[in-house]
Order: sequence, then structure tokens, then C-alpha cells
Amino acid sequence: MSNKMWGGRFSEGPDAVLEAINASIDFDKRFYAQDIRGSQAHVAMLAQSGIISKVDAKAISKGLGDVLKEIESGKFTFSRALEDIHLNVESRLAELIGPAAGRLHTARSRNDQVATDFRLYVRDTVDELDTVLAGLQRALALKADENAATVMPGFTHLQSAQPVTFGHHLLAYVEMLGRDRGRFRDARARLNESPLGAAALAGTGFPIDRHMTAKALGFDRPMANSLDAVSARDFVLEVLAACAISATHLSRLAEEIVLWTTPQFNFVKLSDRFTTGSSIMPQKKNPDAAELVRGKTGRVVGALIGLLTVIKGLPLAYSKDMQEDKEGTFDALDTLGLCLTAMTGMISDLVPNAESMKAAAGAGYATATDLADWLVRELKMPFREAHHVTGRIVALAAKKDAPLEALSLAELQSVAPKITKEVFAVLGVEKSVKSRTSYGGTSPANVKRQARAWLKKLG
Ligand code: ARG
Repeated sequence: MSNKMWGGRFSEGPDAVLEAINASIDFDKRFYAQDIRGSQAHVAMLAQSGIISKVDAKAISKGLGDVLKEIESGKFTFSRALEDIHLNVESRLAELIGPAAGRLHTARSRNDQVATDFRLYVRDTVDELDTVLAGLQRALALKADENAATVMPGFTHLQSAQPVTFGHHLLAYVEMLGRDRGRFRDARARLNESPLGAAALAGTGFPIDRHMTAKALGFDRPMANSLDAVSARDFVLEVLAACAISATHLSRLAEEIVLWTTPQFNFVKLSDRFTTGSSIMPQKKNPDAAELVRGKTGRVVGALIGLLTVIKGLPLAYSKDMQEDKEGTFDALDTLGLCLTAMTGMISDLVPNAESMKAAAGAGYATATDLADWLVRELKMPFREAHHVTGRIVALAAKKDAPLEALSLAELQSVAPKITKEVFAVLGVEKSVKSRTSYGGTSPANVKRQARAWLKKLG
């Protein structure tokens, strides 16, 4: 059978494989609500502009409402022969209301229609993600508030560097997620223009009112160039880039949870709710959720690279390649949402092991910088000399296989004769973190203040 929508020009139906490669209904049915919203705005505008009669518009609008209800109650039969969500909805509308349905597509094309639907869908999802991102920030800030003074090793090169607090470490992620939210907000502001009314590519001769439909759909304005309107997909790319960056942040945190929960680190514990056992090794408790958050980053980044590759060679305006913008995007948005929720669960669930964190914080001569700073402050040594002197003291302690504070005053003075017993006050890890009161530094007072400020902001 030749196609209902363009059967005029065709005498034969499509080959089965064409239908298989061409149909997008299996995945674009996901934005049925946005499709119907777009059509409602369009039909109201057509009537208002005198392009179709008020009577037809009313029938179409009511019919669209009925189609929506059918879909939402699971009664709608989606058809692959009808390619996509646009044709599925329109065809059912025709069954319900008869020939008036044929007027809905006046001054519109599926090209501006799909661009509109997808913008609406991405915008709605970005708004949902913002809430989920804020939820994770809140979980992190709460844990940071509880652990403002819990000492742990800070690392560079994954080697013990200087003591920090666990709260400070968690707040670093709150900052990252704050920027992630900012990137989504920026992308949202730029995507919020309406392609509807660009028609196939060149605009239309009908006296449409694109400002009216833009406003009805919550867009800031209509897109200024009809070719751009139907062929732009940078709004998706930007959102995918924001997803990829955010997934990368989650992956780093996930990697840390994986490390921290090993018996070797033993920094935090996850409850049975967030670990799985091994079918062969009875002792194991595996942080699968963290590993999967780390692993799923691959598909989110993949969606960005995939779509960049689809778009890069496309001449203006619409090409069917663009239909490939959807599955990867849906998957990336879903995946990021799932990872954020899993991470929120893990952060709320995890319990830090303050003792083993503190012991590790003191290992590896992590307070050597505090000693060097003391030499600069109290003995007025130039920092470079203090660095050298401290290095020799660390070497001495290492030779004895002892921590810095276990050296005697005489031993310290054998390297720097002017050292006094006051130096011992800065060698402990708690003293070290307490002293780091510079703006953005790890002192418990700073961390407490910042955790509280975030909690207040997050509500
Ligand atoms: N399903 C199509 C897509 O997702 C809708 C647009 C079809 N336009 C066309 N000229 N065939 O891109």
C-alpha cells in the first residue's frame, strides 16, 4: 500500500528494510506529549490568524486531547508504517475527527515540528536534571557538614600530600556540581527559541504568527532564520556536553568511593543496600553501584561524540541523518539521571571511618609542609631553605621508620639547631588542618561555614 501522507507521488509501499531503517516511532514516541503540545499551539495560531476556521481548530484541538489521553492510558497503537510520532498522532487524529485533521499540518513541516518537539523535550529534561543535581549537592553538603573536622589525607598524584578534612573533599564535588548546573542553565537559555513555523526550510507564505506559538510553548522568541531553525542541533550538543562533563565528575567521585571502600584504604563503609556480594568469595562486598556510575560515563561521552559525528558533514538544511540525534541523547539523559540518583543514595549511605582516615592522614609525612611553614614563620627562614631542611628531617624520620612527631627535639635540632619544642604543635594532622584558614582552605571552621552556606542555598 502506498503511504497515506505522501501517496500522491508514490505507487508502491516501502521495502521492509526501508521501513526498518527509516522508522523512528520506537524511540520518538517518547516525546508524544511535546508533539501534541506543539500541535495545540500551532492549531490555535492557525485559527487566530484566520488560516483555518475556528470550527476546524476546535475539532482538531479536542481530537489532539483525545489522542493524548489514548497514549497516556496505553490504548494507542503505534505503527511503524507511520514512521514517527508526528505521523502516528496525525493519522489517529484523522481517524477520530475526519478530514479536518488534514488542516493541522498547514504552514508546518515535520522538520520544524521535530525540532520544536525535541527542544521542548530536552528543555523539560534539563529542568528535571537540575532538581536531581541539587539533590546530590544537598546530600554531599549534609555529609560535609557532619564531617567538617574529620581529617583525611589529601592527595596529589594519589600520594599523601597534606591533611584535609572529609567535609572539604566532599564540598569540592558540591562546587563541581554547581558548575554543572550552570552549564545546563546556560544551554537551556540558548535553546529556548522556537523553530516552529520555519516549515520545511524556507518559511511559509501563510500569514502565521511565530511569536504567538513561541510564547505559547514557553520559548523566549522564534528562531530568526528558518534554515537554521530546522537544521540546528547545537542545542542538543551543548546539553550532551554538559551531561558528559557532569558524568565525568560523577565518575571521579565513583572512583574515589571504589578506592575508599577497599580494605586497603578502609576510609568509608557502604551498607548492604549499596554493595553486592560475590558468588564465590564469601568475604566480598563490592561497590557495584559506584563502578557502574564510573562505567556508564562511557555511553554519555559516546552520545556526545556520536552526535558531533552525525552533524559534522551535513549541508543545510534538514537531512534524515538528524533522526539519529535522538536515541543517544535519550540514553545520555536517562543515564545521567540514574547515575545522579545512585550517587545521591551512596553519599547518604556511606559512613566514614574517622580513625583509619586520620591514621592515613598522618602517614607519608603529610605534615612536612606545616613544618616547613613553621620554620619560615618562626625562624624567618626563606621558604626554599625551609623546604630543604624539612626534606632532611623527613629523611631522618624515614631512616628510623618513624613519623615526624616521634623525632626528639635533639634529633630535629641536629638538622636545624634553632628549632624549639613549640614545633611539635604543628606536626599533628588536626593542627595542620586547623591552621589552613585561608579563603577556600580546609580548616574545619571554613568547611563548616561553606557547608552551611550551601545547605541554606539549596534549601
Ligand atoms: N522522524 C524525523 C526525525 O526525527 C522527523 C522529520 C522528518 N522529516 C523529513 N523531511 N522526512 O528527524
